[in-house]
Amino acid sequence: MYRTHNCGALKINNQGEKVTLSGWVQKSRNLGGMTFIDLRDRYGITQLVFDMDRNKELSEKARKLGREFVIRIEGEVIERSSKNKELVTGEIEILVNKLEVLSKSETPPFTIEEKSDGGEELRMKYRYLDIRRNPVRKALELRHKFTQEVRNYLDNQQFTEVETPVLINSSPEGARDFVVPSRLNQGQFYALPQSPQLFKQLLMVAGMDRYFQIVKCFRDEDFRADRQPEFTQIDCEMSFVEQNDILELFEGLAKQMFKRFKNIEFTEAFPRITYEEAMNLYGSDKPDIRFGMKIQCLNDIVKGKGFKVFDDAEFIGGICAENAGEYSRKQLDALTDFVKKPQIGAKGLVYVKYNSDGSLKSSVDKFYPESELKLWAEALNAKPGDLLLLISGDKNHSLNVLNELRLEMGNQLGLRDANKFAPLWVVDFPLLDWDDENKRFHAMHHPFTSPKQEDLHLLDSNPAKVRANAYDFVINGVEVGGGSVRIHQEEVQQKMFKLLGFSTEQAYAQFGYLLNAFKYGAPPHGGVAFGLDRWVAMFHGSESIRDVIAFPKNNAGRDVMIDAPSIIDDSQLKDLGLSIKKTIK
Ligand code: AMO
Repeated sequence: MYRTHNCGALKINNQGEKVTLSGWVQKSRNLGGMTFIDLRDRYGITQLVFDMDRNKELSEKARKLGREFVIRIEGEVIERSSKNKELVTGEIEILVNKLEVLSKSETPPFTIEEKSDGGEELRMKYRYLDIRRNPVRKALELRHKFTQEVRNYLDNQQFTEVETPVLINSSPEGARDFVVPSRLNQGQFYALPQSPQLFKQLLMVAGMDRYFQIVKCFRDEDFRADRQPEFTQIDCEMSFVEQNDILELFEGLAKQMFKRFKNIEFTEAFPRITYEEAMNLYGSDKPDIRFGMKIQCLNDIVKGKGFKVFDDAEFIGGICAENAGEYSRKQLDALTDFVKKPQIGAKGLVYVKYNSDGSLKSSVDKFYPESELKLWAEALNAKPGDLLLLISGDKNHSLNVLNELRLEMGNQLGLRDANKFAPLWVVDFPLLDWDDENKRFHAMHHPFTSPKQEDLHLLDSNPAKVRANAYDFVINGVEVGGGSVRIHQEEVQQKMFKLLGFSTEQAYAQFGYLLNAFKYGAPPHGGVAFGLDRWVAMFHGSESIRDVIAFPKNNAGRDVMIDAPSIIDDSQLKDLGLSIKKTIK
């Protein structure tokens, strides 16, 4: 028998018991004739003690144990003379009388402690060692508990978990696909699903009524901290529902998660704001509403005073950073540099310091006397001690810049508390997105998203104005989920394809199986998918979703532990009917 208890189980009431434990050597230290070893497993740490006077041979054996050796011991639970309040097992230790080395360990490449000395790349290469560390293990345990709770909630709501295929067809809409060559059908490729979208709709046609799946999705996208090429969705679909039914049911799920994992009870409904409001007030379709600092359009009051930059701009927007009026010249220059960074791309920043004595000082004093600045301050609801920040230019771009600036000020002023949660729904997304480069519309969500009934008449006359029954679930500025009510009427679907530039033949070539299915009685349906990694990372307090994924990929999409992707044998290529055109470095 390897163990009678785990390493987190024994307490003072076990005193006198003969026990067997197994685990890893966390650390060892010698004090005179005594050797103390911290024995670790997933459940905790128990101190072992070896006494030279009682058993010399055993003590010498213990002194040879290295970090991360796996051992099995037998001994007696005794009370510690110096107790450790930090440890659950800190009142006892095991006086060992038998020691067996189950496996040796080389010196690990980084310390396996709460805070490791290993850099991320090294820890990813030896991820199995990294997972031995408490914070990583706890993240995985949280993820497990989280998915259990999701399954419970959805099961109680009559959802059935159904698995859908992983080898499917490539579809050029959306992100890039990962493709898999077929050996049996040479020259043809499967694609890995970006989401099970069409399958879940087929399951609605199939009468499953309520479907969910905790499912891997694959997208060949550029890297960001909240993106992985393979990630997990909580994917859901329901029949005979309207948008509100869906939002209410999943708001229930979110509330249950907040209660269970954060001990936060949301008694009120989550705010719902339209895409248009979100863009105008926050410059983002995933606003962080833990703090205000809303954007205000100042066109009416700043134009026509001879300042060419503002006079020529399509849009001038401002935010009021409360209590930042004391910002130094250096801090203001740093903010200007921040908005001018290439990835943000503003040409400049105008500021107004509303001094605590009530006077106003701006970077454009030449054009605007104090009386004018006072009007700006009023428009932005500013009070003495605040800082006004203005951005001008093309409207959409200025809103983007203001969003970045607002988030940066939120960080600088400590308004983005990781322990505070502000969930909301962003609703009424536009149906279509104009692609200026290719002079065509794309579906903003996907081609099966239904237009709002009241906007149907605009489909022909002004498609860009048509709103969709599409929504995102956002927490603290992170898009945690998204979904829509789907089109289930053939005529609307045909119209949609036409707008997207698909001929009937092209639409059938790509989505024929769904369009055919819709000929056999499609219930009205809709759904949502949540990014499990993002949601768990947020609850875990992590910036990066990698922290909550057992074996994540790095920035270049590589798994540095297994060294994937990798070159394949010529014989494999031959089987697949493939050849590599040129040797790629
Ligand atoms: P969408 O594309 O919005 O919707 O994806 C749903 C949620 O999945 C998460 N997510 C990601 N997480 C990590 N890495 C990625 N690369 C990544 N991409 C997306 C986000 C996002 O909100 N089929 C539709 C859902 C529906 O309409 O029901 C879909 O996939 O949290």
